[in-house]
Amino acid sequence: MKKFENKTVFITGGLSGIGKACAIAAAREGANIAIADFKSATTERTMTEIKSENPKAIFIECDVSVYKHVQTTIQKVVNTFGTLDIALNNAGIGGEGNKVGDMPEEAWHSVIGVNLCGVFNYMKHELEQMLKQKKGVIINMSSILGKIGFVGSSHYVASKHGIIGLTQTAALEYAAEGIRVNAICPAFIETPMLLHAGISENTELQKYIIGLHPMKRLGKPEEVASGFLFLASDDASFITGTTLEIDGGFLAQ
Ligand SMILES: NC(=O)c1ccc[n+]([C@@H]2O[C@H](COP(=O)([O-])OP(=O)(O)OC[C@H]3O[C@@H](n4cnc5c(N)ncnc54)[C@H](O)[C@@H]3O)[C@@H](O)[C@H]2O)c1
Repeated sequence: MKKFENKTVFITGGLSGIGKACAIAAAREGANIAIADFKSATTERTMTEIKSENPKAIFIECDVSVYKHVQTTIQKVVNTFGTLDIALNNAGIGGEGNKVGDMPEEAWHSVIGVNLCGVFNYMKHELEQMLKQKKGVIINMSSILGKIGFVGSSHYVASKHGIIGLTQTAALEYAAEGIRVNAICPAFIETPMLLHAGISENTELQKYIIGLHPMKRLGKPEEVASGFLFLASDDASFITGTTLEIDGGFLAQ
């Protein structure tokens, strides 16, 4: 029997990078997959890739920062598959870099709106459904930058610290209700997000970023997906309110 047979896994931002790798890994383990993301030219191709692991997969168009999208999204998941067993709140953006004093207000609100409010928006409705079921697992995508400062990224850093606080608090509030809530803290992972930030192959910036990791390389989305599968599975049945660092040793320094 596969690990996630008959389980429903919901992933925000599941069409790219880490979210996509988690969707493919969970589908391979038999999970029904529901992806919430923006629609783009590659949506169909990505959904075909996921469905090649398990045809029981749906795409729901949404902007995680828009609260009114959220309830209908979770309703669609439950109407389609009957339950919501595992939620990965993963959608996120990097945003323009600037020192705090030069940070445009719009950039601040945009990153906090997607990365932190987007997680809160979904947790509210995921918890509502999981309380009805009296069980569920929520995993929020934080970052190593949820644990340290990073020059030029105060909005991103604040959002990822916020996710850890939100995770720990919800874990305490729902521990006795059969719901586990944890966060993952990846270091720099090879995804389109890094390319958007100008960290593309063989640039000086990429060499600098690689050099920050004791393992002297970037992580792979599949390596984050392995951690996600563990935290989502019953192997982690006594783990709640924690953060799993998948960082090539970054935070041990
Ligand atoms: N790549 C890294 O180095 C790294 C490191 C630590 C944490 N993370 C976190 O991992 C998560 C995934 O990042 P990634 O590197 O895979 O990035 P990515 O850009 O490859 O994927 C992000 C996905 O989120 C979606 N998304 C963005 N804003 C959205 C919104 N408002 N509504 C719905 N969907 C939205 C995008 O369309 C995309 O599919 C993010 O939360 C990111 O902060 C990434």
